[in-house]
Amino acid sequence: MRHFLDIRDHSADTLQAMLDHAAEMKSALKAGRDGPKPLAGKSVAMIFEKPSTRTRVSFEVGISQLGGTPLMMSAQDMQIGRGESIEDTARVLSRYVDAITIRCFSHDMLLTLAEHATVPVVNALTERSHPCQIMADLQTMIERHGPLDGQIVTWIGDGNNVAASWIEAAARFNFQLRIACPEGYAPPAELTAWARAEGADLVMYDSAIEAATGSQTLVTDVWISMGDEEGTRREDFRPFQLNEELLAVAAGDAVVMHCLPAWRGMEITEAVIDGPQSAVFDEAENRLHAQKAVLSWCVSGN
Ligand code: CP
Ligand code: NVA
Repeated sequence: MRHFLDIRDHSADTLQAMLDHAAEMKSALKAGRDGPKPLAGKSVAMIFEKPSTRTRVSFEVGISQLGGTPLMMSAQDMQIGRGESIEDTARVLSRYVDAITIRCFSHDMLLTLAEHATVPVVNALTERSHPCQIMADLQTMIERHGPLDGQIVTWIGDGNNVAASWIEAAARFNFQLRIACPEGYAPPAELTAWARAEGADLVMYDSAIEAATGSQTLVTDVWISMGDEEGTRREDFRPFQLNEELLAVAAGDAVVMHCLPAWRGMEITEAVIDGPQSAVFDEAENRLHAQKAVLSWCVSGN
């Protein structure tokens, strides 16, 4: 079963082939050429337990472009919202559809769905990871700076689900990943230990400015993710804002990424996100192309 649950489950070759395919499909679409239709006659169920703009629309449009029918389902409107088990949901949906995407709080719910489904399952974000986002981010890095080998990427802010998938990507590709998080918000120690054991070039910083110095890509995300308590986060993260001062010490051709939605004036300043070095809307667009490559791999192996 070709599930796409996490970056770590796949080899660099498989991931690179998906990224190449995403780039090909993007060029074809821009040139007005009709692309392959691996989902012709197939349906994909999209379950959302949390809000979404990009993930929902890019999957829905991507599935249609691949010839398939997307079925959007809010978890609250399904029987899982009233307590039906995720195991039975997996078994039933597998009788109707050819793949399932799910955005849910619990990563274990994703894993249980995948274990009991007899069709491919794609992680559309959990509290622990967001692999589809990182596929789009890698595609954007390649577009801006060429092959991933030897590049320097700096994550600034929360060691959250998006950071976790970046760490998994650093374990698969040969770029340096610098991480600057406030005390108490570092990514899980077992994840960084695993990534280092897999060969990831991870460097932890206490200072955002040091982490940004000479970096080619600066990435951040919200300080309060879906499901997080606000607590003292606003004050705790203040020294980790992606602002003009950080961009000034980065490489001259550095780009800025943010998975969006963004809170201007909090984790990123308006001047940076709307400035000439921002790649955030290319990054958002690439969700479409990268996820088409993921779905295509899930249902047809390429
Ligand atoms: N980046 C991202 O996943 O955005 P949405 O929450 O809008 O899907
Ligand atoms: N870390 C954010 C990402 C949103 C796309 C969250 O989980 O809310």
